[in-house]
Amino acid sequence: MNRVSGNNMHFLDLNDFDAKTLRDIVDNARRMKEARRGSPRGHREKDEPLKGKALALIFERPSTRTRVSFEMAMKQLGGEVIVLSANDMQLGRGETIADTARVLSRYVDGIMLRAARHSNLLDLARHASVPVINGLTDLSHPCQVMADILTLEEHKGPLSRQHVSWVGDGNNVAASWIHAVGVMGGKLTLGCPEPLHPTREVMSWAKAARADVSLMVSPEDAVKDADCVITDCWVSMHDKDGETRHNLLKPYQVNKALMSRAKPGAIFMHCLPAHRNEEVTDEVMDGPASVVFDEAENRLHIQKSILLHCLGGK
Ligand code: CP
Ligand code: NVA
Repeated sequence: MNRVSGNNMHFLDLNDFDAKTLRDIVDNARRMKEARRGSPRGHREKDEPLKGKALALIFERPSTRTRVSFEMAMKQLGGEVIVLSANDMQLGRGETIADTARVLSRYVDGIMLRAARHSNLLDLARHASVPVINGLTDLSHPCQVMADILTLEEHKGPLSRQHVSWVGDGNNVAASWIHAVGVMGGKLTLGCPEPLHPTREVMSWAKAARADVSLMVSPEDAVKDADCVITDCWVSMHDKDGETRHNLLKPYQVNKALMSRAKPGAIFMHCLPAHRNEEVTDEVMDGPASVVFDEAENRLHIQKSILLHCLGGK
């Protein structure tokens, strides 16, 4: 568990948690989403459980969904946000992450960081006396995968009975999927070109956790019998080798032919932003199997549940 100092509850990586904690966060998000059905968008929760609390959102990389969903989540829970771009802060002029953590902890009740490097997130968490939430690093994207699980379960039922196939780059989102399946159950097959396999560290963790995770090279084999096919962009925000990645990943495009090898009725997910007609065709993105916009919406519902877990209610 991520209780590092006093009552300080971070949300750094899914493999820091036990199955019950993650299950409760997903179920609470579903309950809050259902309870709001029919309410106006942006409407505050009646009991405003985070009234009087403030969250700082720090971005070392661009964002649309993570920024807006955290901002709306805090507003709906009755709290406030301060959105900061790292470049506009003294961080950008060399103030240390440790000192930034100590200072911000005097002003706000929680900090979400989208980090250029995972080590920046760990540094912030080590020195903050308030909860720190991982809003994506080069190594993981746990909030995204919690929203993915909520979406998958809405469409297909319990994660423990699903076969999820990840196709393409074995990247940060794939790593959080490996953690999720290792903690919560389900079966995950990854089809990735060898140079872009997930890190040895995450695969060793999966082995030690006895997770039902298989890694292969063929995208066609990876999607066989899948209930859900997932992909992500070929070049992530921290990647530099764009041309090499395009060449390696071309055979991994999710198109109608690849989807037809999954189980009938299989869904398609993508954390977005998508590079249409690169990693996924328009036909799949806009087709009947695609649940990508439910997935994007669920970022909001899951953030609320994560915030309540980390910051607590009144
Ligand atoms: N999926 C996701 O994290 O999107 P943003 O980069 O827009 O936040
Ligand atoms: N893997 C992508 C996810 C974007 C939300 C990246 O890190 O850029």
